[in-house]
Amino acid sequence: MNIAANPVVQADETVYLKDYQKPTYLVDSVHLDIQIFEDYTIVNTVMSMQRQTEGPLVLLGRDLELKQIKINDHVLSSAQYQHNEEQLVILDCPDLFTLETSVHIHPETNTMLEGLYKAGDLFVTQNEPEGFRKITFYPDRPDVLSVFTTRVEADKKYPILLANGNLLEKGELNATRHYAIWQDPTKKPAYLFACVVGDLAVLKDHYVTSEGRRVALEIYAIEKDIPKCHIAMEALKHSMRWDEEHYGLPYDLDNYMIVAVSQFNMGAMENKGLNIFNTSCVLADEEYTTDAAIMRVQSVIAHEYFHNWTGNRITCRDWFQLCLKEGLTVFRDQSFSEDLQSAAVQRIDDVSVLKSHQFPEDAGPLSHPPRPDHFVEINNFYTATVYEKGAEINRMMATLLGKTKYRLGTDEYFRRHDGQAVTVEDWVNALSAGSGVDLSAFLRWYNQPGTPTLHVTEHYDAAEKTYRLTFKQSLKENAKYPDLKAVPIPVAVALFDATTGEQYTLHSNDLFKNHVQDGMYLFDQDEASIVFSDIEQAPVVSLLRNFSAPVHLIFDDSDESLAFLIQHETNGFNQWQATQTLLERILLNNHPAQHYIDALKHTLPNLVNKDPLLASRLLDVPSESYLASRIDQDYLPEKMKAVRDQLIYTIAHDMGAFWKETYQALDPAQQSEFSQAMGERALKNIMLSYMAAQKDKDVFDLAFAQFSDSKNMSERLGALKILVWHDAPQAKDALHAFYVRFKDEPLALDQWFMIQAAHPKLNEAELKALIAHPDYDLGTPNRIRAVSGGLNSRPVNAWSFGVQHFIHLAQYLDEKNPIIGSRLLQALSRWYTLAEPKRSEVLQQLKDVQPSIRSKNVSETLSSMLKA
Ligand code: TRP
Ligand code: ZN
Repeated sequence: MNIAANPVVQADETVYLKDYQKPTYLVDSVHLDIQIFEDYTIVNTVMSMQRQTEGPLVLLGRDLELKQIKINDHVLSSAQYQHNEEQLVILDCPDLFTLETSVHIHPETNTMLEGLYKAGDLFVTQNEPEGFRKITFYPDRPDVLSVFTTRVEADKKYPILLANGNLLEKGELNATRHYAIWQDPTKKPAYLFACVVGDLAVLKDHYVTSEGRRVALEIYAIEKDIPKCHIAMEALKHSMRWDEEHYGLPYDLDNYMIVAVSQFNMGAMENKGLNIFNTSCVLADEEYTTDAAIMRVQSVIAHEYFHNWTGNRITCRDWFQLCLKEGLTVFRDQSFSEDLQSAAVQRIDDVSVLKSHQFPEDAGPLSHPPRPDHFVEINNFYTATVYEKGAEINRMMATLLGKTKYRLGTDEYFRRHDGQAVTVEDWVNALSAGSGVDLSAFLRWYNQPGTPTLHVTEHYDAAEKTYRLTFKQSLKENAKYPDLKAVPIPVAVALFDATTGEQYTLHSNDLFKNHVQDGMYLFDQDEASIVFSDIEQAPVVSLLRNFSAPVHLIFDDSDESLAFLIQHETNGFNQWQATQTLLERILLNNHPAQHYIDALKHTLPNLVNKDPLLASRLLDVPSESYLASRIDQDYLPEKMKAVRDQLIYTIAHDMGAFWKETYQALDPAQQSEFSQAMGERALKNIMLSYMAAQKDKDVFDLAFAQFSDSKNMSERLGALKILVWHDAPQAKDALHAFYVRFKDEPLALDQWFMIQAAHPKLNEAELKALIAHPDYDLGTPNRIRAVSGGLNSRPVNAWSFGVQHFIHLAQYLDEKNPIIGSRLLQALSRWYTLAEPKRSEVLQQLKDVQPSIRSKNVSETLSSMLKA
């Protein structure tokens, strides 16, 4: 068939939200028969099709060897359909018919980790967003929901045969082959289809829902990783309870399975009843993984579980609505994690991610609204903006509504849309209708790109005893989105008595509630002001408490006020925010360091025992990468590093014996609470790094002892970093010992690679040696990310020999794994901020690679980057 003449294939590869059309056919049910052989796999599909609108039947399919198509048992000749690289179109179909297709596919050579692929000895699927079309011809779009029955057949050397739903039948074909038949009773889009074939061990448990349903819980992993699955299992049960209590949402199937895979593009995938997880997001054990990784496992388990309602039962109409499921689910997992540990520290960590990833993304050439209105490759839109900014929008609405009204709103959403594929508008409408509060203005947040800037000025009137705050908002112009409007910004505010440090009771009719301590003001115009009365003397104000809106705050308060807030703010998040604002002024605008150091001296001695985790965060010095994201031109990585090193040196010396004394006083092993122990471990590692900055003569012995004596991975790695990054005499031995101990533990080995790639004085030859190491593996995204991430955390290196590293990777992965290639290339997206001559050099390198790029993923990213 002549492909170019096919009217259904578009020449322009850009897809637009405004062009959305309903699918011409729905699929009432689908039966898949997947027969796995060593060098190919047969997929036979039977679908009951039902016409919904006029037009041809469009089935999507990629890299499929088509063997046969039948309609109602009649084999079609090639003249009866049109087939190209992307789709199969059948022009005249009845309104109701059975379609059968047979294809061959090649999971054993699939390196893209999309569709059905072989990871080591395991066959697994990844179908979100558009992977199912690599398994069979199908209307692979989220607004086509169907009941799936799956037969999986394979050699008996693969004892585990899994698919979504309930096991109907299991049996043997002959001496070597066996099969299983699964049926998922709930209608779902194809991106939630999953199957797994391999040899795995399993951890079993169960959970009884609020409705009395007994759910079998199973986590599958390789045998030796099973002991590392208990934390995930506990987190799963906890998530199930949490969703019942906070959203009234129980689980709906009789089983819930999780499979751990080491070759996986992202964190995890919420396939209905059969989640597939990157091992990094399910294996958790103090001996093998860090505290941060343990926290991440719990939040990702919750995230994928929460998708069962926000994503699976209510799904997206089209991929432009991705943030409908992701933004809401991230907000839900963040709320869960806030209940799990210190809420303030969880918020600090979530905002850190937002500020260090989403803000820069939104300030650069890849900026897009949380709900974009066009894309070339949807895989490029699994971004910090869709996930993290999407979560912030939901948080703002939830904060404004308060617990009770928010719950009325979410109840209405689940009541209206269960079983449907919906849009962001449907969500905001249901939330408004249920709560009785019109939230439609928040749609602007979904549709506009860029981080708004909130300018605040203050005025105290001593005669009237009034205090006025004036707000202005602005958005950076964006050629693609010309008519930007003011967004609703919830501003949480507190006032403090500058002498006593006491919090004022607020008297202002402009607030949601009057005569309270914690005020909430909704600023939804271009400019407005609010007045507080009965203020006895000029107060210290704390704005955007808990980061009540994802904006850049410009407020010309004094360094003294920030130091005051570090000491007196009762909101832990804003205590931390004050340290960060102050440190940014010190590092970027040459302010003196003394206010920060004095505030630490007042605050830390008590806090290290009371709340070691928060104390550790107050010692965060913004990273070089974050600081770089705040510089828009003439960025000099070496200069930035020197300024930051100098500050650390100053803090280290000014605090004298504090570091060593605290290091010796802390004993995490004595703490029974995990978060207390985690806080003490974090602090001890920071203490070591300041002692190293002081050139304390004992620091390497202390670090080596910690490294050798501890069985805890956070302690081990913290000490190893000190030794390696400061070129201690023990560094080589420690690295070797770590390798010998953990060479068969891929997640620990990732850390070993990361630490070396993140050496501050790494050179090109050392980087080459690292990626020539036999354990370096371009087929495992975790391993690539370990090295690239380590390198990227040192901008001086990343912007010298690192540039070629990222370009080569993108070029290599362009063919092998374009999803990851495109992501890694983004490390260079801020090339245009560099000072000359580097700026032109990197630009030239990017331009040179452009003609060789084939994938939509990498080419869309590269061409956006070059438009900067
Ligand atoms: N829906 C997944 C999540 O957020 C995201 C995801 C997992 C994904 N694997 C993917 C997205 C592969 C794109 C490609 O939980
Ligand atoms: Zn998700």
